[in-house]
Formats: sequence, structure tokens, C-alpha cells
Amino acid sequence: MDIISNFAVFEGGDGSGTTTQLAILSERLKKAKKPAFFSTFEPTEGQIGKLIRRALKNEITIKPETLAFLFAADRNEHLHGENGILAHAARGELVVCDRYAMSSLVYQGIECGDELPLSLNSRFPAPETLIFLDIDPEIALARMKNRTSREIYEYREFQSKVREKYISLLEKYRSAGVRVETIDASKSVQEIGDQVWSIISQMPIFNT
Ligand code: TMP
Repeated sequence: MDIISNFAVFEGGDGSGTTTQLAILSERLKKAKKPAFFSTFEPTEGQIGKLIRRALKNEITIKPETLAFLFAADRNEHLHGENGILAHAARGELVVCDRYAMSSLVYQGIECGDELPLSLNSRFPAPETLIFLDIDPEIALARMKNRTSREIYEYREFQSKVREKYISLLEKYRSAGVRVETIDASKSVQEIGDQVWSIISQMPIFNT
């Protein structure tokens, strides 16, 4: 597995706080002024990402296998597109992303079996640092209960499988040379934010 230098990814089940933590980290990076950074997310805001979001909201029905292809297509654009992940990393920026290929191995792996997402995502290089926000699905779903609409994966049985699958795949990334860190995401937003900062600020880009 190739590794993209200066690239960090947040992963975790729904309600684990990846989006919140990316926002907090971005604020800290902005204040730190250095290194220059690019914060981004998947599914993206591009046309393919928008289509995926509609399927997640159940506005359109797309077969799980087709969705696996769409996530991979969205990722390919995100990675290789003009102004994409690789372009920013090549400029020497720190790239931080809310979800990446591991989300497909986990979610689409549960939905379609491992083979399809594995083959679709094997072409994508891995991040240098991967932060897994680990949370009991009961707590995560309770946090999300005030949301007005529920997406297709946001129910307890599925999220229990999501957590198990994340945990079972972490070692694979670690042995491929990715720095993998698990954070207990039931802690306070502030505590998690501090832990995230301590991990991210140890990335080699901070010493250049
Ligand atoms: P979000 O809730 O973090 O915005 O992510 C949207 C949903 O999409 C979340 O339930 C995880 C799911 N997802 C996949 O199933 N496969 C993927 O490859 C990605 C990036 C997200």
C-alpha cells in the first residue's frame, strides 16, 4: 500500500464526531498559521458526492454495489482532480480529511461483502495518519437523535457491525505503515480535540 505523506484521515461510525473534530482541528491549524493545510471530506461536494448524499438520505434508490462504485468514483476525483488531495499534498500542505477509503471497506464491506470495495479501493494510496474515533453505537445514536432526518446507515444493528469492522481492519493499516491512533470518542469534544492535536502535531510536516 502506497502512503501519501502529509495526509491525515478521520474515521469512525456515524455520530462518532469526525466532522466536529475536523472543524476543531482546522481552527487550531488556522491559529497555528503553519503548516498550510487543506481540510476536506467525503462524500465530496462534487456531482458524484451530491448523488451519493441523495442516496444516503433515501431520496433516490441506488443498489449497494452501485453505491460502492460511486464512493470509489467520488474518491478518485477527490484524490486526482484539479485541486484534489494529491495536488494539495504535492504543494507541501497538510491535508486532513473527514472519511476516506476505510469508510468504503467498512460500510460497503458490510453491505456488499469485502471483495467489491477491496478491489475498487486497492488503487488508492493510504494516509500517513489515521485517527479512528471509537464510540459505542448506543451513545453515538443517542447523540444524533435530535437530527431531523436519518440516513440509511444510521441504525443500531448496522452501526454495531460498523464498529466491529473498523476495529478488525485497523491492524491491516498499521502493518502497511500507517500511523493508526484510536481515540475514545465518548470523551468530551474538548478532550478529544486535544488528543487529536497531539497526534496531528507529531506529523513530520510540523518539523519541516
Ligand atoms: P458523514 O455522515 O460522515 O457525512 O458520512 C456520510 C455517510 O456515508 C456515513 O454514514 C458513512 C458513509 N460512507 C460510506 O458508506 N462509504 C464511504 O466510502 C464514505 C466516504 C462514507
